[in-house]
Amino acid sequence: MGVLRIGHVNLRVLDMQATLHHYENVLGLIKTDRDGAGNVYLKGWDEWDQYSIMLSESDRAGMNHIAFKVENDADLDVLKRRISDWGIAVEEVPAGSLHNCGRAIRFNMPSGHEMYLYAEKKRVGKSVGTVNPHPWPQDLKGAGVHWLDHALLMCELNPEAGINMVAETTRFLQDTMDFHLAEQVMVGPEGKIQAATWLFRTSTPHDIALVGGARMGLHHCAFYLDEWTDVLKAADIMAMNDVKIDVTPQRHGITRGSTTYFFDPSGNRNETFAGLGYLAQPDMEPITWTEDQLWRGIFYHTGEEAGEFTSVYT
Ligand SMILES: [Fe+2]
Repeated sequence: MGVLRIGHVNLRVLDMQATLHHYENVLGLIKTDRDGAGNVYLKGWDEWDQYSIMLSESDRAGMNHIAFKVENDADLDVLKRRISDWGIAVEEVPAGSLHNCGRAIRFNMPSGHEMYLYAEKKRVGKSVGTVNPHPWPQDLKGAGVHWLDHALLMCELNPEAGINMVAETTRFLQDTMDFHLAEQVMVGPEGKIQAATWLFRTSTPHDIALVGGARMGLHHCAFYLDEWTDVLKAADIMAMNDVKIDVTPQRHGITRGSTTYFFDPSGNRNETFAGLGYLAQPDMEPITWTEDQLWRGIFYHTGEEAGEFTSVYT
């Protein structure tokens, strides 16, 4: 029971036409719907629910909300009580408030990020079907990403003022929704400040990650590819389409994934992420990265900050 996986993110974008070129032709997502308000919905070919990305035109980039899918409708009642008992206000929203979803609950995590939980979303199926499927569809565009894999959210961290929304939000996710801690970065005197965390509900090292910064925001949303060669080819496709790449293909120490960071036309950071990393299980002892090895954890080969990792986010 409980939270299954990341369901979707609702991104704010400046120019829908340019954005759709990016998400459809470069990443290879499939447009599945558009609503009366002009929001556009897309999914990866390997996803069965109708959408994992919701695009909303706006005059500023960023993320409106993140949504997770729970296993059973009754889980919503249990989770509503647990979140409310934790001290967070929860609102029930009727079926259809989230496009083509059943009833949902809505709240703001301690970090301020708006989150929805829902149990039902319209199903449209994988592109390869479910009977004698081919391993991949032959009409893939661009990088042909499989699915929305995870999101990394920036949370306010200001130890001098006693503010650590990474630690607070991590505890919230663990206490109320039974997220498990896979990895963490500990900094400051005696390494007591939890400055970043990677948490899972599936069996991969992270479904959501939290990193401390000057203000809350969206650092990136990541799309799954099978392997390193797919990450390399995806970066080729980005170059062919003049996509602004933040960090060229390389490996993360944390989660062990292969990665490329890049920006959509509005400046929202995306990632192509390949590999399982490792089998994450609730009884696995969390991995800790110390402050002196922080950048080895993030960019394993150089052990140094690359791109605009900490300074630029939406
Ligand atoms: Fe990531």
